[in-house]
Amino acid sequence: MSTTAGLVIPCKAAVSWEAGKPLVIQQVEVAPPQAMEVRIKIKYTSLCHTDLYFWEAKGQTPLFPRIFGHEAAGIVESIGEGVSDLQIGDHVLPVFTGECGECGHCKSEESNMCDLLRINTDRGVMLSDGKSRFSINGNPINHFLGTSTFSEYTVVHSGCLAKINPLAPLDKVCILSCGISTGLGATLNVAKPKKGSSVAVFGLGAVGLAAAEGARIAGASRIIGVDRNPKRFEEAKKFGVTEFVNPKDHDRPVQEVIAEMTNGGVDRSVECTGNIDAMVAAFECVHDGWGVAVLVGVPNKDAVFMTKPINLLNERTLKGTFFGNYKPRTDLPSVVDMYMSKKFELEKFITHRIPFSEINKAFEYMLKGEGLRCIINMED
Ligand SMILES: NC(=O)c1ccc[n+]([C@@H]2O[C@H](COP(=O)([O-])OP(=O)(O)OC[C@H]3O[C@@H](n4cnc5c(N)ncnc54)[C@H](O)[C@@H]3O)[C@@H](O)[C@H]2O)c1
Ligand SMILES: [Zn+2]
Ligand SMILES: [Zn+2]
Repeated sequence: MSTTAGLVIPCKAAVSWEAGKPLVIQQVEVAPPQAMEVRIKIKYTSLCHTDLYFWEAKGQTPLFPRIFGHEAAGIVESIGEGVSDLQIGDHVLPVFTGECGECGHCKSEESNMCDLLRINTDRGVMLSDGKSRFSINGNPINHFLGTSTFSEYTVVHSGCLAKINPLAPLDKVCILSCGISTGLGATLNVAKPKKGSSVAVFGLGAVGLAAAEGARIAGASRIIGVDRNPKRFEEAKKFGVTEFVNPKDHDRPVQEVIAEMTNGGVDRSVECTGNIDAMVAAFECVHDGWGVAVLVGVPNKDAVFMTKPINLLNERTLKGTFFGNYKPRTDLPSVVDMYMSKKFELEKFITHRIPFSEINKAFEYMLKGEGLRCIINMED
C-alpha cells in the first residue's frame, strides 16, 4: 500500500478556466480511484495539437473548467477495486482511447475502437459514476479524454493504461502515449505502404513526422512532406522526408501538384493537419487503381468532407484512424520496446523541455508552429 492510497491527494494542476486563456497552476484535490480505476503520478507530459483544439474550443464543444493533457508517462500510485493487471509502482502510459478487452472491437483484430473506452472528447467525468475525481473547494473540474495529465496526480480507467518496460526513459517515451504512436501506426498499420512506394504526408508536426518515420521504416522510396509552414521543412529533413511542397507556393490545388510530381498520384498519403482542405487534398492526390489515403487530423466538429464519388469509383481508398489502430494495452508496450531496440528515435521529436510552472509556453510554441514536442517536467 502506498501511504496516500484511499486518501484525497491535494496537488498542483494546470486548470483551464476559459477557452484560449492561459492555464492556471493551482491546488486541486484528487479523489481516490473507484472500481476499475487507477490513480497515477504523472512524471512527464507533453502537448499534442488535440489539447490545443479543445482549449481554443473553436469549432469544438467548449467544456470548462477543465484539466487538459493526454500525452504523458507516469507511475501507479494506487489502484481501485477490481484492478488486477496493474500494481503500485508500475510504469504506465495513459492513452485517450482504451481497451476493455471484452467488447466486439477489443476482440476484433482489426479495430481499436473499444465500445466502452473509445475516445470521447465531450465527456468531462469518469465512466463508473459520472463524476469527476478533480475538485477545488468541493467544486468539480472536468476531465479531458479520460486522462487529464496536466496534473501531478490523475485518475484514469485501467483500460486506458499501458504498462511498459520499467527501464524505458519516461521523459522520452511519454510522447508515445499519443502523437508518435498515432503517426507511426497510421502508416505502418493503416496505410501500409509497400517497399519502394511513394508516400505523401500532410502536416509536418510531430504526428506527421512520425507518419514519415513509419514510411521510412516500411521502405518507401519517396516521402513527400506537405505543410503551409516553411519552418517545418528544415526539421523534416531529419526524418527522411525526400521532397517538400508548400501549398502556398502554388496557384492550383496541391493535389494536382502532387499528381504531376508522381505520374498520376502517390501510392499512399497520410493527413496529419486537422484541416478539411488538406484532408480532401490528401485523398485526391493518391493514385487511382490502388492509392490509399489515411486521415489522422482531428477536424472541426462541423467540417464536411466533399469529393466527387468518381474519385472513389476509380479505386482509391479513404481510411481514418485513431491512435494509429494500435490497441493501447496490447500493442503500446511493444512500440516502447521498438524504441528501446532503436528501431526509431524519439529524441529528434523533442525540441523543447520546460518545468510544469511554465506550461503555458508549450501552448505558445505550438501556436507559433515552433518546434515539435515540448516535454513538461512535472517535478520541476
Ligand atoms: N487520430 C488520432 O488519433 C490523433 C492523435 C493525435 C493527434 N491527432 C491530430 O493530428 C493532427 C496533428 O497533430 P500535431 O500534434 O502533429 O500538430 P502540429 O500543430 O504540431 O502539426 C500540424 C501541422 O499541420 C500543418 N498544417 C495545418 N493546416 C495545413 C494545411 N491545410 N496544409 C498543410 N499543412 C497544414 C501545420 O502548419 C503544422 O505544421 C492534429 O489535428 C491532432 O489533433 C490525431
Ligand atoms: Zn494527441
Ligand atoms: Zn472494448
